[in-house]
Amino acid sequence: MAGPCPMKIITVVGARPQFIKAAAVSREIARRPAIREIIVHTGQHFDRNMSEIFFEEMEIPRPAYHLEVNSLGHGAMTGRMIEKIEEVLLQERPDILMVYGDTNSTLAGALAARKLHVRVVHVEAGLRSFNMRMPEEINRILTDRISDILCCPTETAVENLRREGFGNFPCSIVRTGDVMQDAALYYGARSADKSTIIRDLRLADREYALCTIHRAENTDDPARLKGLFSALLEIGNDLPVVMPLHPRTQKLAAALGPRLSGDDRLIILPPVGYFDMIELLKRTAIVLTDSGGLQKEAYFFRKICLTLREETEWTELVDCHVNVVVGAEKDRIVHAFREAVHAPLPPCASLYGDGNASALIVDALSG
Ligand code: UD1
Ligand code: UDP
Repeated sequence: MAGPCPMKIITVVGARPQFIKAAAVSREIARRPAIREIIVHTGQHFDRNMSEIFFEEMEIPRPAYHLEVNSLGHGAMTGRMIEKIEEVLLQERPDILMVYGDTNSTLAGALAARKLHVRVVHVEAGLRSFNMRMPEEINRILTDRISDILCCPTETAVENLRREGFGNFPCSIVRTGDVMQDAALYYGARSADKSTIIRDLRLADREYALCTIHRAENTDDPARLKGLFSALLEIGNDLPVVMPLHPRTQKLAAALGPRLSGDDRLIILPPVGYFDMIELLKRTAIVLTDSGGLQKEAYFFRKICLTLREETEWTELVDCHVNVVVGAEKDRIVHAFREAVHAPLPPCASLYGDGNASALIVDALSG
């Protein structure tokens, strides 16, 4: 006799950090025979090193649908994604749609599902920068508002939702911890065997700084981007700066002048895979970034992080003094770097759960 029908989940992913988060949760879903996951890739990120490499390395199930929407303005990108995700939902009739984080793919998935009365689960709910000029802030607030199950990585995220009145809405708020911690633990135990980047680049322990820059607020303002690069060149006089660069930053940095790629103070690379990134994180002296994910990974791998933004959603890291928000102005960044680079790491309690966020998220789906 056939058993009960498994719960059908559509997971919508599109951008690099979502592949990493979904990898952790997909591993957990695969253990539960009562749930069937179908992955939809919006196509937002499409270069091999921004997409395919993660599916290969992290053994994420292959997307059943590839929507190939990318390189468009916000309206066209989000609109075309909604249209195509809606078609998939009408065909598959899932019980749940799951989205991660705060990208255009996140909002498009949530909107398409909500209008078809499909239950929406938002992983990384409740985060706020309180800066409405950021596309990510708009995406996350709107996604939260139309989600049925809000999986919060931290107590701060839960409090943000309560303060905004989510306690009065018909949704459940669950503090699950952070899926990126699950990913860092699992893949961090395997990366040394999989990556040769430290050897290939001839890097020595704590003798380089690791930097990524990709946020629109930094890349789309030439004065800010220039300030960031002049700080990094100055830091490069003390330690070489290893920079795996997002394609958006590569294009814009090239416009700052040909000098950058020939300067041995900066080791500019194409985007790297997750195993390489973990190995770079394990051995770096310090992290400088505007990435949300990397701020937490710096903490997971016990490094101080200088955040190249005016604010952060991960305020508990700042409260623990392992993260310093330094903006984009040269002198401030260089001063913070020289203060932090040889400082001992302050003690900091476990902030993002016990590494079982994926299990708690999947429990919340079936609960
Ligand atoms: C997006 C997210 C951001 C997230 C980041 C993760 C939005 C609004 N922003 O920003 O929140 O932190 O992903 O990395 O959703 N490009 C390529 N190759 C690629 C991917 C992008 O060349 O594989 C180019 C695109 O053509 C585009 C630019 O990079 O010109 C920006 O890409 P887009 O997906 O719009 O935003 P991200 O900066 O990646
Ligand atoms: N990452 C990576 N290779 C890179 C840059 C980043 O594997 O060249 C990983 C990083 O370790 C983290 C995630 O991508 O897990 C963060 O993605 P990104 O910085 O693009 O986005 P954000 O977290 O800011 O949304």
